[in-house]
Amino acid sequence: MATLTFDDTLDVARVRGDFPVYDRRREPPLVYLDSAASSHKPRAVLEAMDDYYRTTHANVHRGVYAMAEEATARFEAARASVARFIGASSTREVLFSKNATESLNLVAHAWGRANLRQGDVVVLTEMEHHANLVPWLLLADQLGLRLRYLGITDGGLLDTTDLETTLQGARLVSFTAMSNVLGTLTPVRHIADAAHAAGAVVVVDASQYVPHLATDVAALGCDFLAFTGHKMLGPTGIGVLWGREALLDAMPPFLGGGEMISDVRLDGFTCNELPWKFEAGTPPIAEAIGLGAAVDELDRYGMDAVRAHEVALTTYALRTLGQRYGDDLVVHGPSDPCARGGVLSFGFRGIHPHDISQVLDQAGVCVRAGHHCAKPLMRRLGVGATARASFYVYNDESDVDALADALDSCSDLFCL
Ligand code: ALA
Repeated sequence: MATLTFDDTLDVARVRGDFPVYDRRREPPLVYLDSAASSHKPRAVLEAMDDYYRTTHANVHRGVYAMAEEATARFEAARASVARFIGASSTREVLFSKNATESLNLVAHAWGRANLRQGDVVVLTEMEHHANLVPWLLLADQLGLRLRYLGITDGGLLDTTDLETTLQGARLVSFTAMSNVLGTLTPVRHIADAAHAAGAVVVVDASQYVPHLATDVAALGCDFLAFTGHKMLGPTGIGVLWGREALLDAMPPFLGGGEMISDVRLDGFTCNELPWKFEAGTPPIAEAIGLGAAVDELDRYGMDAVRAHEVALTTYALRTLGQRYGDDLVVHGPSDPCARGGVLSFGFRGIHPHDISQVLDQAGVCVRAGHHCAKPLMRRLGVGATARASFYVYNDESDVDALADALDSCSDLFCL
């Protein structure tokens, strides 16, 4: 494994200067370790949204006056930034939604209902977020689909031993590129190639991947890619679905209303062109502009630097927590920091994760506790819940040290 030092990666002190949340004086100081749930927003994102509302707000793709056209141009420029950021060949392939959950539901409803029939096989994995389980469970109930699952190894990796067998006869495979609980990176290209060879369409939930690793949809080899803005420095209320143009063209719309039509008669309608065919109603304009600013900011940091920084920080965290607490602290997921993202779900000395989170909060340390919307995975791990620390561009070793110190207070409080 390559050894990475912070010199090779981000200047975290400078990065933190971009985030107003760190300007607020707090005692104890903020140790934000919950970016897998939602990241903080840099000044550039807040200013882009504020400036849009202050100077340019109008509905998009409707008015023909200058300010409305300017609003449309800013909205579509954001789409172009997102398209470039993920290597999409055209903005026609980049649909704005409310969040990754809506993007995945869009595929299930629009592609799924048009293409799946009773008895068809859909393959998922045991490490999915509910957002990539429940839409397929609903569709399975409604259409009579058969669901199969790839399991996980005891080391927290996706178990692809029986991949070919599991994929036999499958019409669709939908899986996470990075687990929000284990941090596990899955072999997206490998699975996509095998799924295509089996004749299946490939959907990737990249909610935890796009914010942290350079993303190229062509290299990943999938057919649909879903992610959300608020985990990647952008605002809430904006998600993305990238899809291959031919598939999107052939799909019926998801929601009906304004903007997604080219003509409406009393006896029917014709759809608008891509991507607007899938964007019914007034879209999240300021949020899209904020997401455009977020990807520009991530480009400024450099996604290779972001990834290298998180590998280094994860390496430091696994080593520090391991040396200090040994077997008393169980980190779920792969032990190799290169096989995972900067998400550390853990159990500690039998203390309930909600208690851990509350005690850590008294030291200013923000971690998520619970099932992380991945109940089947919790069952597979044999736990009801975990505490989860997750890293991003504004975290450094001092945050890990603060987490480690605060865990001592947990032990003291519970007399362990
Ligand atoms: N999906 C988000 C998480 O893992 C909310 O915390």
